[in-house]
Amino acid sequence: MKFLLLENIHVVARDALIAAGHEVSATGASMGSEELVAHLEREQIDVLGIRSRTQLKAEVFETKHALQAVGAFCIGTNQIDLEAASRAGVAVFNAPFSNTRSVAELILAEIVVLSRSLGDRSSELHLGKWRKVATGCNEVRGKTLGIVGYGHIGRQIGVLAEMIGMTVIFHDVLQRLPMGNNRPAASLDVLLSQSDFVTLHVPETPATAGLMGADQFARMKNGARFLNASRGTVVDLVALASAIRSGHVGGAAIDVFPTEPEANSSEGFLSPLQGLPNVILTPHIGGSTSEAQENIGREVSGSLLRYLEDGSTMGSVSFPEVDLQRLPGRHRLVHVHQNVPGVLGEVNGIVSRHRGNILGQVLGTNPQIGYVIIDFDSNAAELIARDLAAVNTTIRVRALG
Ligand code: NAI
Repeated sequence: MKFLLLENIHVVARDALIAAGHEVSATGASMGSEELVAHLEREQIDVLGIRSRTQLKAEVFETKHALQAVGAFCIGTNQIDLEAASRAGVAVFNAPFSNTRSVAELILAEIVVLSRSLGDRSSELHLGKWRKVATGCNEVRGKTLGIVGYGHIGRQIGVLAEMIGMTVIFHDVLQRLPMGNNRPAASLDVLLSQSDFVTLHVPETPATAGLMGADQFARMKNGARFLNASRGTVVDLVALASAIRSGHVGGAAIDVFPTEPEANSSEGFLSPLQGLPNVILTPHIGGSTSEAQENIGREVSGSLLRYLEDGSTMGSVSFPEVDLQRLPGRHRLVHVHQNVPGVLGEVNGIVSRHRGNILGQVLGTNPQIGYVIIDFDSNAAELIARDLAAVNTTIRVRALG
């Protein structure tokens, strides 16, 4: 297959795709819709790889030489019209958890930095001020860390924090298996009242908007520190600034903001937290490491190869997730169809007309499409695929051998 990788995708992805026998062209550039559609048509590209700058509108999924799949070598997929991709039968894969460890390490470092007011000491010394102080500076050993949102990142932090001697409690809306000696708090309020450090790792949802406001900061222990590297909308920054100014909250590390600039710039960013003591502000860099980029390259190229070779859609954001173990002696077809009644009966009828005995079958649906992997014993996969392609509810069909 022909791959086009845009936006400087990590070289591990290109290497993995070439090693699997594919033809790959890679560039650092992004492309506008018109240029991209023309390029996909002209070069007969089968699979496209992008990061966050390339916008994929509906027309990209409607080219004559249809894309098979898209790799979003990033975390979010807001730049992609996923409904159009789904309708057109284009499987889109991303890598939502590849930077988990990077965020966890940043938080761990910041807990120590806040505990010693390192940001302020460093800024002072840059300005020529020598202020050697021990008051208000503490080891983190033996202190309590409260983790709000005990998912991929929250759990990693729970494990790392215990390794440096912290007691870890957590709060999640779902029942989560505690790692190590971490234990659940009875409620968010209980967590806030018991923690020396509170760190947020929840998703951005209507339920988490404004999760931390004046009431919640008031419930925190006097002098406790607060960290947020989840999403900016989760925290009321004006309330946090006021809690820090009063001295009730003893410092904060904030990586995400309600509105963030789209591009790097040397001035103009404003936040109510600027200039406050013991406050570390970082420009959404929690997941920004070389290792995370490499993980993303490996994970997304792996998902694309599994989809092309075995039909697995695990990790897809435009297809229902379907997987079926490959067993020797079986032939495989994958079929994408409009999600209307009766399609599976028609598909199975065609397989049996070609004397195929179905040995394994798994179907998944979303509101637009159905996706089915079918294993059978007949070696007429190409003929079955040809007949399936003629059915009017078929969007895509591939024989995988
Ligand atoms: P995840 O989905 O694995 O975990 C989120 C957890 O929060 C889940 O266990 C969920 O049940 C829980 N949760 C949802 N609503 C809640 C509520 N109201 N109260 C308590 N718990 C709640 O997500 P992951 O990968 O751990 O990411 C967490 C956050 O970190 C996300 O917002 C993500 O966007 C952000 N993130 C930020 C990065 C950065 O560069 N600063 C990089 C990567 C992720």
